[in-house]
Amino acid sequence: MKHTLIEQAQQVLRRNDRGTYTVPTHGLYPFQWNWDSALSALGFAHFDEARAWTEIDTLFAHQWEDGMVPHIIFHERDEGYFPGPDVWATGRAVPTSGITQPPVAGFAVRRMFEAAIDKNLATERAKALLPRIHAWHKWFFRSRDPQGSGLVAILHPWESGRDNSVDWDVALARVPTEGVEPFTRLDTHHANPAHRPTQSQYERYIWLVQSFRSLGWDNTRLHDASPFRVVDPGFNAILIRSCADLAELADQLDEPEIARQSREFAARGIAAMERLWSDVHGQYLCLDRTTGELIDSPSIGGLLAVFAAVPADKAAAIARRIDRLGDVAKFLVPSHDPSAAEFDALRYWRGPVWLIVNYMIADGLRHAGQHATVERIVGDSVQLIERSGFAEYYSPVTAEPCGGVHFTWTAAMVLEFLAKPGAMA
Ligand code: DGY
Repeated sequence: MKHTLIEQAQQVLRRNDRGTYTVPTHGLYPFQWNWDSALSALGFAHFDEARAWTEIDTLFAHQWEDGMVPHIIFHERDEGYFPGPDVWATGRAVPTSGITQPPVAGFAVRRMFEAAIDKNLATERAKALLPRIHAWHKWFFRSRDPQGSGLVAILHPWESGRDNSVDWDVALARVPTEGVEPFTRLDTHHANPAHRPTQSQYERYIWLVQSFRSLGWDNTRLHDASPFRVVDPGFNAILIRSCADLAELADQLDEPEIARQSREFAARGIAAMERLWSDVHGQYLCLDRTTGELIDSPSIGGLLAVFAAVPADKAAAIARRIDRLGDVAKFLVPSHDPSAAEFDALRYWRGPVWLIVNYMIADGLRHAGQHATVERIVGDSVQLIERSGFAEYYSPVTAEPCGGVHFTWTAAMVLEFLAKPGAMA
């Protein structure tokens, strides 16, 4: 069974491989997405190291001059996706979106470097990527934390990757819809509309795009101008972890200044994260930077915080919270608490399980020594694949496959979970 799953996972990656980048899935997502690529590279690394490095190289070939790495790169025209390059109008030779996504590349590149069999290739590629990834991290702290709090804000739900999370409901309701140009959604032609964000959320997503576009995508202006500014513990944990991993990589590649700065970013971030802790929920919460208030929403973002080296008592509390979620959800880790009123088992980030988040949570908990919870998460992840194939996400109640099919990063995570026995559990 294990070998069959590994072969099937490799087939999914090959099927979505466009030579120098990989699409998340055919139809629904026909371009290169930022964090999909970084996590998918981890899958390629198990059977084609050169191809894995190319995936990250292609992503960083489209980094903006200010350091931002965009969330979508529109390598080819495809009329089946909305909003396409004409809506973003970022003016790039190869069109890109104008916002970013969780910066998981620092983590991925360290992992690929240390696991590499071809050390010469890995050294050459990691050395070239190191300053680019560092420039992206510096961009984050400069553009998304102008007050120097130690944590960055996302300015659009799409930046979080958790597009329609309950976490954004209140802040997103503040985004107006007047002036939104008429549009036709295409995502609902490729996937079940009951699995996707609502029309009202889409109108606000597009309002934000139009608003940033009207500011010429100038990242020195977007943060303060945006009505949506949320500090997500999950997003920040990914950034902090990538900074910490980049520091380790920089040590190995003899780049002491990058190592020093990256360690400083990580240390400040970890310290600042404590402001987001909730004793009531036993997990971290999002902070609405517009109001200065914590957002009372027990979602997976506050559990993903354990991907960074949070204090041991917080990691232990998160493990206990996940264990409790496991008493009510058949499959861990639901993206929202099943006992909350807003929980929706099938709708994108309002309840379903995502294997990439399971992978990052499991990795963080393993580092924190919480092995029993890791075992349950990995076991549930493999069961979901066995029952329902390589879906985009799954119901935590019934394992129903949701969203797109033949999903690249789901397949990549399966290779991570299974291909190196003992590596994850
Ligand atoms: C989408 O189109 O659903 C994406 O999540 C936006 O990045």
